Amino acid sequence: MCGIVGYIGKNPALPILFSGLERLEYRGYDSFGFCVLDDDKVDYFCKEKGKISDQCHIKDSHSIGNVGIAHTRWATTGMVTKENAHPHSNQDKDIFVVHNGIIENYKELKEKLISEGYAFASETDTEVLAHLIDKYFKGNLEDAVVEAIKEVRGTYGLAAVSTKDPNKIVAARMSSPLLIGVNGDEFIIASDPSAIITRTRQIIHLDDNEIAVLTDEDFTISKIEKETRCLNVTNKEIEMIEWDIEQAEKGGYEHFMLKEIMEEPNVIEDAIRGRINIEQANAKLGGLDSIQERLRGINNIVLVGCGTAYYACKVAEYMFEEYAGISARSDIGSEYRYRKTIMSKDTAGLFVSQSGETADTLAALREMKEKGILTIGVTNVVGSNQARETDAGVYTRSGPEIAVASTKAFIGQLTTLALMTVYLGRQRDMSHVMGERIINEISNLPELAEEILALKDDIKVIAEKYSHYRDFWFIGRKYNSAIALEGALKLKEVSYIHAEGTAGGELKHGPLALIDENCPTVAICPSDSVYEKMLSNIEEVKARKGKIIAIATKGNEEIRKIADDVIYIPKTLEMLTPILSVIPLHLFSYYVASALGRDIDKPKNLAKSVTVE
Ligand code: G6P
Repeated sequence: MCGIVGYIGKNPALPILFSGLERLEYRGYDSFGFCVLDDDKVDYFCKEKGKISDQCHIKDSHSIGNVGIAHTRWATTGMVTKENAHPHSNQDKDIFVVHNGIIENYKELKEKLISEGYAFASETDTEVLAHLIDKYFKGNLEDAVVEAIKEVRGTYGLAAVSTKDPNKIVAARMSSPLLIGVNGDEFIIASDPSAIITRTRQIIHLDDNEIAVLTDEDFTISKIEKETRCLNVTNKEIEMIEWDIEQAEKGGYEHFMLKEIMEEPNVIEDAIRGRINIEQANAKLGGLDSIQERLRGINNIVLVGCGTAYYACKVAEYMFEEYAGISARSDIGSEYRYRKTIMSKDTAGLFVSQSGETADTLAALREMKEKGILTIGVTNVVGSNQARETDAGVYTRSGPEIAVASTKAFIGQLTTLALMTVYLGRQRDMSHVMGERIINEISNLPELAEEILALKDDIKVIAEKYSHYRDFWFIGRKYNSAIALEGALKLKEVSYIHAEGTAGGELKHGPLALIDENCPTVAICPSDSVYEKMLSNIEEVKARKGKIIAIATKGNEEIRKIADDVIYIPKTLEMLTPILSVIPLHLFSYYVASALGRDIDKPKNLAKSVTVE
């Protein structure tokens, strides 16, 4: 998501921080900032919206300070504004913090700090850290950071500096990557190796609960264990990074698409972080608070999206009708905007978009607003047009997605829509027991997603085996009928192979005419309420000599007798199976495209964000 760089050494920090941030540009960001200290004075401070490349004069500033921190922000909490950019500081502006991650309990902490007299200058969760460090500061920055993070729930990779305890950087990590580059007696702290490797290839990874103190001579790493801090963690080895810049940007993977697929468990975790209320068996969706009461009167939802986002809408249609007790239908942005629709006033429009900038989805949104319909957004980009124009909404928090074909963003959309199902359901007939069941299952998904990713080498073998076919069919039913469409879309987008998806029941209404030994079928057939029906569809394909690649539930041995290849996914609630069943399809498409040597991250003729009609 966001990017952190910090420098301490004998050289002026600013140019090194500047080029570090430039090398994080590929991750996408909307604002940035620097804080450089020269001993106990702030030598340089700036925060800006937009791109660093538009502000090249920064690196020519006559800043001589040799300690500094810098940040590229990709907004999650708070809009894209100069005030919300990092570094954040305490009121006296003598403590500065940059932070990646999400502070789950920031609202409670903020209220408490305000009641204690602290004034806030931004809408971010990060600013809470700056004030907490201030509150606990008694002359030593690392002690104050330790006390501050004890109060925090959530994830962080952070770096802090202070003019009151100068000539050091304090960094801490909890579930958000942070590493130290060691180059003689200069040290660079960064969230991503690409910000470091042009200066040094010697790297130490910080682990969770570790805190590092860097000076211009040395560094120490300590572990915060059960409220006590034991100094100098031993066996922290320096690793040599062999990656080139391009590999480093992709986290060592060959393509962004694979990197992003591998991030899917984290995407689920981030989408649900701080949004689960186990006691009330409900989802906490702060973005819907302002329309909470209006939502109670809503009986119909029309979901709108384009491409992959539209398929997320199709899955949500089933979730909402079965569990939230709301009638739901989906439409494609380019269709909705030109058709006449009959919509009663108890209808809400729900717009799903990774970018929040897709022209057809926005046009549909404006059309609905024109008719006085309540509009809700599910998007990944804070401050996007969609986010600004909808009446309320929930961010998916999937982080920047760079590969054109959407993978992790889809997982973020489905997870968010599942939470929304619980939220809407609990406003209506959903029982406490059912709410709890769904919430618990959603919480298990990151681990289950990891299990699937662990099969990536097996999926690669299967993908390579089938990569010479020129036509594919994908089938699924109910929740997974949209996943059949998404599986086919992903394959054609990245491999350029002709692929089509249909609901299983539709096979005999046309597609069977094309099935033979030259057209394999990917059958998504978890052990759910339509499993038997899927088996019949698979038989239909086999009878035409079609090959079957089955996506089935772990433990189903029967499917092996009929399918040519089986990829297993763990068991979960039927409504949540799409979040798992699509993961092997992402990997399958990726490895087929890779076997064919395609330009995977930038497929021909396609764009990441379609902002024109
Ligand atoms: C383009 C992208 C797709 C994406 C679609 C909708 O076609 O290539 O991956 O699903 O736009 O984008 P959105 O940003 O609205 O989700």
